Amino acid sequence: MANSLVFTSYIVLVLVLILASRGAEAARAFFVFGDSLVDNGNNNYLATTARADAPPYGIDYPTGRATGRFSNGLNIPDFISEAIGSEPTLPYLSPELNGENLLVGANFASAGIGILNDTGIQFINIIRIFRQLEYFQQYQQRVAAIIGTERAQELVNGALILITLGGNDFVNNYYLVPYSARSRQFALPDYVTYLISEYKKILQRLYDLGARRVLVTGTGPLGCVPAELALRSRNGECDPELQRAASLFNPQLVQIIEQLNSQIGSDVFVAANTQQMSNDFIHNPQAYGFETSKVACCGQGPYNGLGLCTLLSNLCPNRDVYAFWDPFHPSEKANRIIVQQILSGTSEYMYPMNLSTILALDSRK
Ligand SMILES: *[C@@H]1O[C@H](CO)[C@@H](O)[C@H](O)[C@H]1NC(C)=O
Ligand SMILES: *[C@@H]1O[C@H](CO)[C@@H](O)[C@H](O)[C@H]1NC(C)=O
Repeated sequence: MANSLVFTSYIVLVLVLILASRGAEAARAFFVFGDSLVDNGNNNYLATTARADAPPYGIDYPTGRATGRFSNGLNIPDFISEAIGSEPTLPYLSPELNGENLLVGANFASAGIGILNDTGIQFINIIRIFRQLEYFQQYQQRVAAIIGTERAQELVNGALILITLGGNDFVNNYYLVPYSARSRQFALPDYVTYLISEYKKILQRLYDLGARRVLVTGTGPLGCVPAELALRSRNGECDPELQRAASLFNPQLVQIIEQLNSQIGSDVFVAANTQQMSNDFIHNPQAYGFETSKVACCGQGPYNGLGLCTLLSNLCPNRDVYAFWDPFHPSEKANRIIVQQILSGTSEYMYPMNLSTILALDSRK
């Protein structure tokens, strides 16, 4: 009896060791760039109002604490980390991101930023995209100092990358106030053309910095978020102007992805149609287990869409039946549905291929 117990524990120990070493070998690095949809907490370290480091944010996170993620629990990068068998990415500004932890990857995203430098100026001190890319360069130097230049290069070339940009260039710039500077400068279609040409430079720069597999999400249905329903909608219909912005932006993003891939001669960039993924549960919430896709779980005013989500806000008891956690951001449940589509969606959702296909292809290299 005692012997067989010892033997069993021994087997279990060996299995755990094998799995652990496999995990260390198999997991590829993961890097994240972009805005609040993918920020894992960089803004906690900055003097900015764009932050999610106080309750009730994080109420369903494993620790039950606010981490800086704009979610009640996990966010899109967390579910992608889970899918590739990694730990969640640490914010680049976190003091815990050093030594071995650097090899898991890093999250450079910062809530409030956009493609343009003048997006989110009201949030003052945020990490704009050009700065996120500078940090990526700095990260590579730090990793090279640990494992050598060649292996650092391999780690970056072999990594999975996620970039989420664009929503704030509309919501926190062009449409932030009536007669905004950008809306006086550009008609909407011309503004979108300008954004897309700037985004192309950013993606090119990512490639130049060693990125070889990049998931690029489009914007969600901007006019349907509770914040816009509260501000701009009379009868609960999605705001047509913001919907038009998203519908102009997203297809053109796919076009530059095609252009870049054909220039490079390889499918480096992969478009995730987050507009379609979100439309599915926004237009048919019940089919996805949601009671509502119009009212935010946490907020105040019509649709709980006004102001910030704080301890003083209305808070729904069951976050899983709300598509939106706060006036702008999907709930953990919605994030899980989105990543499910990123993983195994058809070409309508993932172009030219889904993440499962990417993982299968890259594991053969
Ligand atoms: C944003 O600012 C950086 C640094 O000043 C600059 O290099 C970059 O060209 C700017 N981007 C745009 C789109 O103006
Ligand atoms: C996406 O992923 C699944 C595997 O999860 C695969 O069976 C399917 O064919 C893929 N779809 C496309 C269009 O690549």
